[in-house]
Amino acid sequence: MSQVTLSGLTPTSSGIHLGNYFGAVRQWIDLQREGGAHYFIATYHALTTVKKAETLRDNIFGIACDYLALGLDPEKAVIYRQEDVPEVCELSWVLSTLTPMGLLERCHAYKDKVEKGISADHGLFAYPCLMAADILIVRSHRVPVGQDQKQHVEVTRDIAGKFNQLYGEVFPLPEPLILEGQAAKVPGVDGQKMSKSYGNDLGIFEPEKKLRKKIMGIVTDSQGVDDPKDPEGNTIHELYKLVAPQEKVDEMADKMRSTGIGYGYGHAKQELFEALLEHFADARTARANLESDPDKVEEILREGARKIRPIVEETMEAVHQAIGIQSRSERS
Ligand code: ADP
Ligand code: TRP
Repeated sequence: MSQVTLSGLTPTSSGIHLGNYFGAVRQWIDLQREGGAHYFIATYHALTTVKKAETLRDNIFGIACDYLALGLDPEKAVIYRQEDVPEVCELSWVLSTLTPMGLLERCHAYKDKVEKGISADHGLFAYPCLMAADILIVRSHRVPVGQDQKQHVEVTRDIAGKFNQLYGEVFPLPEPLILEGQAAKVPGVDGQKMSKSYGNDLGIFEPEKKLRKKIMGIVTDSQGVDDPKDPEGNTIHELYKLVAPQEKVDEMADKMRSTGIGYGYGHAKQELFEALLEHFADARTARANLESDPDKVEEILREGARKIRPIVEETMEAVHQAIGIQSRSERS
């Protein structure tokens, strides 16, 4: 049987950043060629963070435009919104009855918040169950995500294994697909992991001026224009590796290592800015066109919702049969 792939992003902001793209979305684009790919916008998940309807609507539209502009193709993959599959909430409940509290207590989204002394709500605590439902409802075999989501896919495997053991084989055990190298943990402008929640992200579709300002603000050591600099682990160089051709990357490394050539971090930042714009030039144009055609975007998402329906209904039928509650076909 061919491999089923599923992944998604939470629309807690209206734009995808370099970490999201190189850590996750770029893999999705490669994998959609093989068929069986499902990419969704995790709209229910966003409710743990976004509490304003207007903002959420804008974010969802923004992420849909980003997906399409970056190359997710509705001809090759099913692209949909989570709310078009409300059954994930039902499945999440079923799975939660098999999920030990200890497992959820160890999950980092919740644990980090509690450790910082911030009170967490039940949605955040239970979020790995909803994520498991997202994955299992399409009976996915592989889940392409960044390093920080590995734990949640492992939790999903545990829960799926428990379900199968108790009720019979319904779900494949999904594998996380994580890229190696610098893409696994793209640094932000402060050198920490790029994340919108740290405010250190570079959005792929941000206005040029804003992007340039952020790049110029990348934190560096105090080596001057004539001092030698170590490109390894240097945030500018690490980001440059992602967006520039290899010979340019080597060139930047050589210039950084040189002494007395008047090449400072400002020059390197400017090169990074230009390479980034060039790398995403086509996507930025496509994004601007999509933004001005919301009906087209809506139609693509509705088509995704239509395509996902039979898959979801088949899984829920199997789940209902397995757990002993009436399935939809028995009820009608
Ligand atoms: P954020 O940390 O900005 O809130 P998300 O948690 O929404 O990002 O992540 C969406 C996807 O992008 C996940 O698969 C995640 O692993 C990946 N991702 C996010 N930030 C990075 C990063 N800095 N490096 C690599 N992958 C990342
Ligand atoms: N939790 C993921 C994130 O923050 C988004 C997500 C929700 C997801 N459900 C998923 C990713 C299922 C992969 C599979 O990035």
